[in-house]
This record gives sequence, C-alpha cells and structure tokens, in this order.
Amino acid sequence: MDLKGHRVLITGAGQGIGRACAEVFASRGADLVLLDKNPATLEELAGNLSGMGTRVVARVVDLTDLDRLGMEVEDVAQESLIDILVNNAGFDRPGTTAKIDIKDFEAVIGIHLTAPLLLIKLLLPGMRAAGWGRIINVSSIYGLIGGKGELAYSTVKAGVMGLTKSVAKEAGKEGVTVNAVLPGLTRTPTIEKFMADRFKESIIAETPLGRMAEPEEVAKVIAFLASDDASFLTSTCVPVSGGWGI
Ligand SMILES: NC(=O)c1ccc[n+]([C@@H]2O[C@H](COP(=O)([O-])OP(=O)(O)OC[C@H]3O[C@@H](n4cnc5c(N)ncnc54)[C@H](O)[C@@H]3O)[C@@H](O)[C@H]2O)c1
Repeated sequence: MDLKGHRVLITGAGQGIGRACAEVFASRGADLVLLDKNPATLEELAGNLSGMGTRVVARVVDLTDLDRLGMEVEDVAQESLIDILVNNAGFDRPGTTAKIDIKDFEAVIGIHLTAPLLLIKLLLPGMRAAGWGRIINVSSIYGLIGGKGELAYSTVKAGVMGLTKSVAKEAGKEGVTVNAVLPGLTRTPTIEKFMADRFKESIIAETPLGRMAEPEEVAKVIAFLASDDASFLTSTCVPVSGGWGI
C-alpha cells in the first residue's frame, strides 16, 4: 500500500474524511494537492504535514466556483502529474420534496457532481497518458437506500455511483480505475456539530458494528482503492458503513 511516487489531489481536505485522507496518503508516501474553501483548517493541516516531510500544495478554493477551480487545478497539474483524485468535498441541504428549495438542490448537485466531473475532465487525460490512474469518489449509504428528508443529498450520492461506473467504463483499458466509497455515519466535525443525537442514535442502532466510523477508517479504504493492491478493482461502490444500509 506504498503510494510513494504518486501525487494525489484531495478535495475538502481541511477536516473530516478529507483530512484523514491527507494524513493517511501522507503516511504512505504520496505527494499531496489539498483543496478546501476554509483557509484556517487547510493551512494548519498543510503546515503540519509539510513539517513532517510530505510535499504538499494547498489551495484555498470554493469548488462551486468552477472557473477558479479550473484555473487552480490546471496550475498545480502543470508542476507534475496528478495521478490520484479523491472527490470528497461535500455538504448537505436537507429537505423533503415539499421543502427543498430548487437552488439548494442545484447547489448539492454542483458540489457532489459538477465539481467532481470537472476535476475528472481535467485530470483523466494525464492519467490516461501515463497508463495509470486512480479516481475515488465519496458517495454515501444514502445514495443506496435514500434518506427521508435527505432528498437532494441521496439523489446526488446515487448520481456519484453512476458517474463512477460510467468513467470506469471509459478509462479502464488505459489503466485508470474508478471506484466509490459509501460511508455510513462517520464522526466528522460536521456530524458532531450539526446532527441531532436522536438521528445518530437511530443509525447506530441499525448498524451491526454498533458505532460510528472514525474518519481514518474511511480514509484507509480510499487509500487501499488508490493502491496497487486494488489493481483489479474498478467500477465498485464499497460501503464503509459497519454494515448499515446493506
Ligand atoms: N460524515 C459522514 O457521516 C458521511 C457519511 C456519508 C458520506 N459522507 C461524505 O463524505 C464526504 C466528507 O464528509 P465529512 O463529513 O468529512 O464533511 P465535513 O463537512 O466534515 O468536511 C467537508 C470539508 O469540505 C470542505 N468544503 C465544503 N464545501 C466546499 C466547497 N464548496 N469548496 C471547497 N471545500 C468545501 C469543507 O470546508 C470541509 O473542510 C462528503 O462528500 C460527505 O457527503 C460523510
């Protein structure tokens, strides 16, 4: 699971699952390109990791600003090949069909589908030319089972699986694998701060392992999918949910 000689771009790297990915990929020897809209968390993480000897480029960018995102990524990709992409950044806009605002629905599509597609369009040609690449998209168990009051989020997370499988079919013969992970409830700052205890408790009660995931437990599966140990895995959507929702 050595990732030396590889360069990974991780979105939403400032906290939660993205931050855990940055730490796990760094521990496996990869060079990092970290994107987040939050300068405080991103710069603190980048400082820590580069202090430990990892080559890190950190760019503060709002992924919903596609023009800016395109410019930043073209710029860092020119320095050296980015051969692993982790499309992780996300946010939720809860609501039922009656309550969801169309602008919120479109915002959720933008962060979970449009920005990842743009990054794939920008980085896949370099991976194809190199004959090796890894794309890992972060979906959710809600994309499999749907979520009451999570209409937009569940819909786009199902879309992330469709995006994954479609790109996998395009790129496989050129050595690029494309997979998704489907986390269950994961102890990230957003979940800790914003999810009501009664919702957490009801998911944990339905989870065979009887607890939430730690972010590193999701990040380690993502790092496995990026490694040569996963060389014959593509187009898969791997639940990392302690058995919830499967
Ligand atoms: N935590 C869970 O229980 C859980 C479960 C299933 C799936 N997921 C998915 O995992 C991914 C990460 O979730 P998390 O819980 O770690 O999230 P989080 O909210 O803790 O962290 C998300 C990070 O993305 C960044 N970000 C958000 N919007 C951005 C934007 N427009 N531009 C740039 N950066 C932006 C935030 O600043 C933050 O650093 C998401 O795609 C989420 O849907 C999480």
